[in-house]
Amino acid sequence: MVFFFTGTGNSLSIAKQIEKNPISIPQAIHQTPLEFTDDTIGIVAPVYGHEVPAMVKAFLQKGKFHTPYFYMVLTYGNRHGGAAQLAKQLCEECGIAPSYINIVLMVDNWLPEFDMDEQMKLDKNVSGQMQTIQELEPDATVVTDGLSISRNSVADAQSDVADWVASLNILP
Ligand SMILES: Cc1cc2nc3c(=O)[nH]c(=O)nc-3n(C[C@H](O)[C@H](O)[C@H](O)COP(=O)(O)O)c2cc1C
Repeated sequence: MVFFFTGTGNSLSIAKQIEKNPISIPQAIHQTPLEFTDDTIGIVAPVYGHEVPAMVKAFLQKGKFHTPYFYMVLTYGNRHGGAAQLAKQLCEECGIAPSYINIVLMVDNWLPEFDMDEQMKLDKNVSGQMQTIQELEPDATVVTDGLSISRNSVADAQSDVADWVASLNILP
């Protein structure tokens, strides 16, 4: 079971590489009782101000998670600021003992500070980062059909990106 929170799709794309049908936290948070049981339970979310977004925090505080393996993957854009350590502390405050927390560098969507055109040109090597997670967690199921574009071919990649997004089946 994988839960996700996403503003612009980075965390959703990572969640979908871990599990085919991840569950939206903004939808799940209204569930009563807010209680979940599974062999593994994961949270994928962006880093906001070095921490998880307020709704993710509320979800962890209010929810009950029965699993031998609770993990978090946090996407960030520039400076994670110890986000994994802060997330570990948050889990512990919520009575959760996380088995694994990691961060994934992606395009930064904090618009006041970054030029999105420049961000799109960067090769963040997301598939390489996911491969590292897979190597560190050999028993995890990681779907590896992400799209990787080198910075030299960005200008010609428009149709590749469109095909890949269509294949993810995430557009309404
Ligand atoms: C309000 C806000 C605060 C953010 N704070 C940080 C931050 O402290 N450090 C960082 O590296 N990225 C920060 N980011 C960038 C996001 O964490 C990053 O782009 C993330 O991958 C976005 O994921 P999403 O598309 O799933 O929302 C921030 C973005 C927003 C919108």
